[in-house]
This record gives sequence, structure tokens and C-alpha cells, in this order.
Amino acid sequence: MPERTPFIGGNWKMNTTAREAVELAAGVAQGVKADGPHDPQVAIFPPFVWLGMVDDAIRGSQLRLGAQDCSPHANGAHTGDVSLAMLEEVGVSCVLVGHSERRHGLAEPPERIAAKLHAVLGAGLTGVLCIGETLQEREAGQTDAVNESQLRSALRGLSIVGPDRLVIAYEPVWAIGTGRTASAGDAQAAHRHIRGVLGTLLGSTTAGSIRVIYGGSMKPDNAAELMAQPDIDGGLIGGASLKADQFLAIVDAARREGKAQPAAGTHRGHR
Ligand code: PGA
Repeated sequence: MPERTPFIGGNWKMNTTAREAVELAAGVAQGVKADGPHDPQVAIFPPFVWLGMVDDAIRGSQLRLGAQDCSPHANGAHTGDVSLAMLEEVGVSCVLVGHSERRHGLAEPPERIAAKLHAVLGAGLTGVLCIGETLQEREAGQTDAVNESQLRSALRGLSIVGPDRLVIAYEPVWAIGTGRTASAGDAQAAHRHIRGVLGTLLGSTTAGSIRVIYGGSMKPDNAAELMAQPDIDGGLIGGASLKADQFLAIVDAARREGKAQPAAGTHRGHR
């Protein structure tokens, strides 16, 4: 089974001034390395309007540039939308799709989320598909069913070019921005189920290679425990990605977790 390189994403949401964005990006870029076998892949997702200047600020570094959303359409009469070609032109290589603040906050329907994910992968970029249950759904015992249905609707008909091009972010809605984190055990159980569904949809080899990352109040003090779980391959960080030192501490936890792994065959290597 392949070892999975951890993926750490910083979702800045609708935060930062232009100056703060450039400073934060430069600070993160300085601390990101990709010279060891266990160095995580790290991406930041600034607001659309700062993408070009952030691209300039991180050029030459190992930090990847991501967008928080995209249009499913190539061009045309879609006021306010931003196309993948535009994003590529400013250096974007990965895109968040289906974040709960769009899925629930803006009532983005599953078909639109699926169309965006297909467009991202079709354009040759990496898609980070966000899924997760609300508090009500969790309390009703529907966590696995919700994750499965969100995965099925987004991945239907998809042929993935390479497993590194799709990242699944499990983000329980009740944990996002609330300071409440899923326990490591609960998160691991959800991740294991998600990987099982991926196996049914895409085959077990592909499912074993896709990174399934956790999001929802991940911080330097809980990141290591979460990422020590066998099916948690990194994190999507909101609040704690707005301070370079906090975000880099989480990147470090991912690196340590990677380095703590014995050679392929056990723990991370067994999947
Ligand atoms: P949070 O956000 O870390 O602030 O909970 C995570 C996310 O929404 O991706």
C-alpha cells in the first residue's frame, strides 16, 4: 500500500487586508520545506482578490496556492464567478469545493458541487472536496450516511487521473470555527468510513492513496493527536491558518507524524 504524503491547507476565508495577505503568505512560505520524504504538501487558500499578489510573494517556494471556490463554467455570463482558467493564470493549483460555508451557508446544491469538482479535475488541478455532517445529523446518528451521500453525489462518473489530484476534507460542520474539535477517535472512525466509501466508488488501491484530511478547529495543540490516527492524512485549517507561527506549528506536527512512521508496512504504510 502506498504511503500518503500529508496535506495541510490554510483556508483564510474572507480575512486579511492586501498587506496582511502578502506578509502572512511570505511568512508561511519561509517555513515550508519539501526536501524530506515526510514533508507535507502545504497549500494556502487566500481570498480571490489577493491571489495574484500572494502568488508573487510565494514564488520560488514549496508552498502551493489554492482558491476557496471556482465556477463550474469555462466562461460567459456568470456575474461574480471566477473561472478555473483565471485561477490558473494567477498560479492556483488546487481548489476547495463544497466547503460547508457554501454548501450550508449559501445553499449550494450537490449538483453544483459535483460540477465544480469535475471541472477542477478536468482542468488538471487538485480538488479538495469538503464533506461533513451538521450537529443535528450527528445527533441523529447520520454522520456516516451524510458523508457517504456527499461523496457519492460529488464523485459520480468521475475518473481520477491520479490519486494525488483529489483530497477529501472531512469537516464536521459543528466543529468549524467553534473551538469544538471532534475527538481523535470519532474523527478516525469517520475517516475510516470515508475511505471505505472511496474504495467502493474508486477501488481500494485508489482509496488507499487519496488523502483524507480533517478540518474543524484544528490547532497546534490538537493537531498531532488527530494526525496520529491511521486514516487522518493532514488538516484543513481555518482560524489557526491566519497566524504564520500557528499554521507552521501544525505543518510541523504533520512532518513529525510523518517522520514517526516506521517504514512502509505498518501504520501509515499499511493502508
Ligand atoms: P476552523 O475552520 O479551523 O476555523 O474551524 C476550518 C475550515 O472551515 O476549513
